[in-house]
Amino acid sequence: MAKPQAEMVLDLLHSLRTIHGTFADQAVAEDDMERILGAAVRAANSSARQCYSIIRLGGVERVREVCGYAAPQALVFLSDFTRINDEARRRGFAAYQPGLFELLTTTIDASLAAQTAIVAAKALGLDSMVTNSPLRLGEPEQMAALLDLPPEACLPLFAVLFGYPRTEPDHKQKRYLGPGLLHRDRYQRLTEDQLRAMSAEYDQPGMGLGSTPWREQGYESYFDWFFRAWRPTPDNSKVKPPADLALAWARRAGFVR
Ligand SMILES: Cc1cc2nc3c(=O)[nH]c(=O)nc-3n(C[C@H](O)[C@H](O)[C@H](O)COP(=O)(O)O)c2cc1C
Repeated sequence: MAKPQAEMVLDLLHSLRTIHGTFADQAVAEDDMERILGAAVRAANSSARQCYSIIRLGGVERVREVCGYAAPQALVFLSDFTRINDEARRRGFAAYQPGLFELLTTTIDASLAAQTAIVAAKALGLDSMVTNSPLRLGEPEQMAALLDLPPEACLPLFAVLFGYPRTEPDHKQKRYLGPGLLHRDRYQRLTEDQLRAMSAEYDQPGMGLGSTPWREQGYESYFDWFFRAWRPTPDNSKVKPPADLALAWARRAGFVR
């Protein structure tokens, strides 16, 4: 007997996991990409403006060039007021000068569309990986030239890579849903005991990032490894933080003045 629809959808959502660039060469059917895109744009969006755009990258080499990872297909999601502003100008109106609020709003629009694409792809048997590499791989002008981006009101947020897995991740990452993440009615900072409990939960197999053997490497806990080695906090880092490329992008696009 077929599973009830709700169970099928929930199973699909729980089966999501990232393929970290280890995609097979197998091509993705054109029809599948069209169905993924058709579903993606169904996502909710502010003022029905869909103030994002999507650049579809085809072929492993082009995906690698823009994203730094190989996959047969990728969609780059951009915050983008260009379409709307061009229509305003065509009508003789002044163009919007989108600011930080608009940047956040378009980021929400684009993220909802991207997650919808990810779920649609999974329903079609395709796996995916989100990466913000287009935002951080190099100076904005280089990436802007690579993608032929307009000079303002447009910036790349992230890309979603699609394909079939060549190798499976060695484990499925669990998620935290405890205090500090889920609040009831109002915000509650974690107490010392709750922080200890959260940290102990992250020490369990399958929690946290990747499969780094932090125990074998001599770290006393996952967060000890995380704050010292993976994303060193300022007191643990001898390296000057890299230039804030997101801010450079936001300035280039005029979202931040
Ligand atoms: C904004 C964003 C950026 C990410 N960037 C990368 C990336 O550059 N490389 C990578 O391997 N995974 C990247 N990921 C995937 C996450 O590492 C992955 O979703 C997370 O570890 C949880 O694993 P899971 O999706 O397999 O459950 C990114 C995910 C998001 C949402």
